[in-house]
Amino acid sequence: MKKRIVIIGGGPGGYVAAIRAAQMGASVTLVEQRRTGGTCLNVGCMPTKVFLHAAELYRSMQEEASVNGIFAEDIRFDWSKVLARKTEVVNHLVEGVEGLLQANGVEQISGRARLTGPRAVDVEGRSLTADSVIVATGSAPAIPPVPGLDDEGIMTSDQALSLPQLPQSLLILGGGVIGVELASIFATFGVAVTVVEMLPEILPNVDAEIAGLLRSDLTERGVKFYTGAKVKSVARSSSGYEMEVDSLPERLFAEKILVAAGRRPCASGLGLEEVGAEVVRGRLVVNPLMETRVKGVYGIGDCTGGIMLAHVASREGEVAVENIMAPEGCKVRMDYKTVPSAIYTKPAVASVGLSEADALRQGHRVRVGRFPLAGNGKSVITGDASGMAKIVADERYGEILGVHLIGGPATDMIAEAGLALRLEATLDEVLTTIHAHPTVSEAVAEAAMAALGRAIHFPPSN
Ligand code: FAD
Ligand code: NAI
Repeated sequence: MKKRIVIIGGGPGGYVAAIRAAQMGASVTLVEQRRTGGTCLNVGCMPTKVFLHAAELYRSMQEEASVNGIFAEDIRFDWSKVLARKTEVVNHLVEGVEGLLQANGVEQISGRARLTGPRAVDVEGRSLTADSVIVATGSAPAIPPVPGLDDEGIMTSDQALSLPQLPQSLLILGGGVIGVELASIFATFGVAVTVVEMLPEILPNVDAEIAGLLRSDLTERGVKFYTGAKVKSVARSSSGYEMEVDSLPERLFAEKILVAAGRRPCASGLGLEEVGAEVVRGRLVVNPLMETRVKGVYGIGDCTGGIMLAHVASREGEVAVENIMAPEGCKVRMDYKTVPSAIYTKPAVASVGLSEADALRQGHRVRVGRFPLAGNGKSVITGDASGMAKIVADERYGEILGVHLIGGPATDMIAEAGLALRLEATLDEVLTTIHAHPTVSEAVAEAAMAALGRAIHFPPSN
């Protein structure tokens, strides 16, 4: 008989798990309380990238077209059309995923689900039974305990992605991934953006050298940064809002405030504790097989409070399903060592593996190779020559420990680095892999060469 799997939540964790389970022969029901695609498709990855694409078109037409002999007059944008394009792309993608689920024979139910037993789920009065349940209920914006943030006009990314009009000025609390992506977008569209980050550098999870380069680049493009600056309070002012910051003598003012201080997992109130699963501050506790401590109940994606990325949620979904469907003794474990991170600012940032500081902290003797994109022909053509490729390797055998990129198509280029780490490749293996010319990817091979003191397209340092 077919195994019955009920999946709660239709984001990139839940819908990928549903398709994989159907492929493996299960009878699958996917329950979603709002819209298929979850945060990623509706208010996360995809709408932000539509805006970034539009912003980048606008910027490149203003700054790069004429350099290349292309002239256009009256370059301007219409925010309502940018918003309409976002809606069009999101709808297209959501419908695409719904079509895929249907094509795979997944039953889709709309409504709020709750566990009533380890193998029983209630959806607003309708009872479902299953051999296994996968919880993929995602996350929501976290609001830090800063006085004034409960004001209804304060935005999270949810509201910032649907603003009917652009504000003149914007204060962003938090220089993490959402903070910098939205700063890059809104600054390009002419908003005066200020980012306030409490840590010494923006993007705490990114190699500090790369984060510093991004901050300088965005500063040149008009974004103001205050780092080592903790927001103490916010309040309404005559022209919008004011912000009190602990290390600044003066208050900051802007028309709007956006809170981008992290996200909180959403695993409370689902009946999980009642059936015996462990939920700690909203986070569903799972092991590397994606199992909770209740047999047959699995947790994946943001609701487990791990690395909150769409591609991580999707892989966790596959791991959970493969473990449900696998015979005993053939279990799959989640491997987080080679999770890439991609930040879609202009310039873009991407990395995989250890930062230089983390590699040193873990006791490695490191060999570092840097290759500025100024030495890369394709980057000179596209006007992206201010970026860099950086490789961190273990000195002994040259095993690659981390790759960090800024500029050009960094977010696409990181896939090669992920594979290199997964295959435990060495500097020598990367640099002897022939890279097509002219491509920005050549910079990765050159960074490997630089680590061994033999970069071709950059002068020797001594
Ligand atoms: P979600 O996508 O949050 O989906 C959970 C779903 O469960 C939701 O649809 C919700 O309605 C549903 N649900 C919850 N409770 C119930 C219930 N009781 N019954 C039924 N349904 C329920 N990640 C990237 O990798 N790349 C990016 O570029 C990127 N950009 C982002 C930009 C922004 C602004 C934000 C906020 C996030 C971004 N992320 C990005 C993160 C990414 O969106 C999340 O990591 C990803 O969506 C997590 O997937 P998930 O399936 O775990 O949860
Ligand atoms: P984040 O965790 O990346 O950054 C939050 C920042 O806010 C931190 O740097 C923190 O130090 C700072 N902060 C917190 N309280 C503060 C205070 N009182 N004053 C000043 N600074 C303060 O969280 P963010 O940006 O909200 O993003 C949430 C998650 O969404 C990310 O961690 C990521 O998982 C996901 N995401 C991924 C994207 C991608 O992959 N391209 C894009 C956007 C979001």
